Amino acid sequence: MNISVIGAGYVGLTTTACLAHIGHHLFCAESDAEKLDKLQAGVMPLFEPHLESVIRGVRKAGLLTFGSTEEAIDRSDAIFICVGTPPLTNGDADLSDIEGVARAIAKRASGYRLVIEKSTVPVQTGARLRRHLSVHGTSRLKYDVASNPEFLREGSSVKDFLHPDRIVVGVDSTRAESLLGQIYEPIVKQRFTCPIHSECPRRKNPVFLATDTNSAELIKHASNSFLAMKISFINMVANLCEVVGADVTEVAKGMGLDPRIGSAFLNPGIGFGGFCFPKDVQAFIRIAEKSGCDFSLLREVEKINQGRIGWFIEKLRSEVWVLRGKKIAVWGLAFKPNTDDVRFAPSIEIVKALLAEGAEVRAYDPQAIDKAKAVLPNITYCDDAYQAAKGAEAVVLLTEWEEFRKVDWCRLARLVERPLIIDGRNALSAQVVAANGFHYIGIGRASAAPQLTQSLVASVCE
Ligand code: UDX
Repeated sequence: MNISVIGAGYVGLTTTACLAHIGHHLFCAESDAEKLDKLQAGVMPLFEPHLESVIRGVRKAGLLTFGSTEEAIDRSDAIFICVGTPPLTNGDADLSDIEGVARAIAKRASGYRLVIEKSTVPVQTGARLRRHLSVHGTSRLKYDVASNPEFLREGSSVKDFLHPDRIVVGVDSTRAESLLGQIYEPIVKQRFTCPIHSECPRRKNPVFLATDTNSAELIKHASNSFLAMKISFINMVANLCEVVGADVTEVAKGMGLDPRIGSAFLNPGIGFGGFCFPKDVQAFIRIAEKSGCDFSLLREVEKINQGRIGWFIEKLRSEVWVLRGKKIAVWGLAFKPNTDDVRFAPSIEIVKALLAEGAEVRAYDPQAIDKAKAVLPNITYCDDAYQAAKGAEAVVLLTEWEEFRKVDWCRLARLVERPLIIDGRNALSAQVVAANGFHYIGIGRASAAPQLTQSLVASVCE
């Protein structure tokens, strides 16, 4: 099928790449000229595992072309709108790009178009889209509007798109439902050559859930807000564990064994970030308020999340005392591993708080340094974790990249001023850290004192 995608961000590029990979003919439009040039030249505008190789493969196979919005509207019956819906200052989602695309379709398209909103949008946006097309559309345009929220996560977007738990479509016609059914059939039946796994892990086939547009739109905001709530909940439990001497990892394990709760998204830490949870929680609060529903529960989720920054700084202060003039090594800047994205990242807020305290920050991240430099120009960026740790009074781990679990402790011990690790993601083993002569402090679990003195470490590491 000929399919167009308008907007080449995480959702747009992944949708484009994966739908072409399962055999559809894709046209992807990007209004940012510099980004479009990069894409046409085969340069990726973002770091995402597997995405570059999938795009290279489908372009070689002639299944993908990049170009303008106008071409995208002319070329395909099905058009996915994947433009950004960033937060406005009042927390509402900015829908101006969505409206812009709707206007372009209304003015230009003739014949039938299935207009599919895939960006995260407030409930009733589909209804507005329909109205906009009927007001501004020419008589030549026949259309359906559908909602198809995306649940992919950054860092695993290709895997999540090709192996989803569910595909949700909000439709108001059988024609729209059947077209979307055709588009997703290879994924629903898991019939495609997987670009990630030589043998895909056995799992239940995704559920194809067809519902009305309003419900489909709400499923997205409600799902993200619920996951964010789980994180704030376990962060509160972690604080309690620290006071009463319990271990949050054990508590989360015990909770998660109940399938009604589930073990996912019960990892405590410095809070949730990224371009989705913070803005979706805010947008959902606003949507509810405008509908006369006081979603105070979500306001509390947000408050708890914002409170993680100050709470973590106090945790560090209680160990190193005065922060002014102290060298602090920061391991991880991305809002989570396997991405270069630092948008709304708690790590960035923690670094800003450290700078405000007069600390000297030496930071390292495997992928996100370029993007971090744009928001944090005045810190020392390092080529690796060891360089960052040089002369450090403390190493604070803010993103749980795999490589931090594999550090050479002897090499590290020779570099730091003080062997102290504050693990903001419970990524490391307290026992391993302590056994290598470092003082370990985690989140919601017992700290571990170094089991070797520095001099013993020096002799062991000779
Ligand atoms: C999220 C949703 O998971 C995805 O379904 C939706 O489509 C987009 O938003 P993403 O923002 O990529 O995806 O990241 P996710 O993996 O959900 O993590 C979000 C934040 O929560 C990160 O900062 C992560 O570090 C934090 N997190 C996640 C926790 O603090 N604890 C957890 O247990 C899980």
